Amino acid sequence: MRQIKTGTIRARLLRAARGDVDARPATDYLKTMSIRPIILLPDPVLREVSKPVERVDDSVRKFAGDLFETMYDAPGIGLAAIQVGEPRRMLVIDLAKEDEPKAPQVFINPQIVSRAGEGAAYEEGCLSIPDYYAEVERPKEVTVRYVDLDGREQEITAEGLLAVCLQHEIDHLNGVLFIDHISRLKRDIVIRKFRKMARDKPPARMVG
Ligand code: NI
Repeated sequence: MRQIKTGTIRARLLRAARGDVDARPATDYLKTMSIRPIILLPDPVLREVSKPVERVDDSVRKFAGDLFETMYDAPGIGLAAIQVGEPRRMLVIDLAKEDEPKAPQVFINPQIVSRAGEGAAYEEGCLSIPDYYAEVERPKEVTVRYVDLDGREQEITAEGLLAVCLQHEIDHLNGVLFIDHISRLKRDIVIRKFRKMARDKPPARMVG
């Protein structure tokens, strides 16, 4: 997911690159990361339903590192595996603000087990639909059951931005995009726009 105030994230990354902030040692899985190309609308891959991760091993931890690297580079605050073309049920989130240390969170096989609260509207964006934002209404609070990078089952009850982000990213694992929650008219306009952009200038992506 992309948030509007991306400038603050970029500023933090730039400062981190200079060594001003985030002197904490990176966790092991963050050491050998690589940036993956992000798949854009209207690529049909984004509509695939991702498959559960069967075992949390080193390859899964390495992949989580790639997802973080790709998300921080974009920059964004959430990224689902399918957005880099891997139909695995996993996603990463980091909601840390500019002046805060990184707060990477990984959710493997996440499932929303309960929802609460009136529809709260939040302006959302998506790394797969660059430079497009729209207000989406979602339940205010969600409880999510998931597996962590150590393979342990966890449960979290989230509200505010984390609740928005979790619902947005879990949607991705089911082939659902945030534009599916807006009016059909607005959705058709944005899909047409991205279809035209893809025709005019195909994204640099390996298709071999
Ligand atoms: Ni998204």
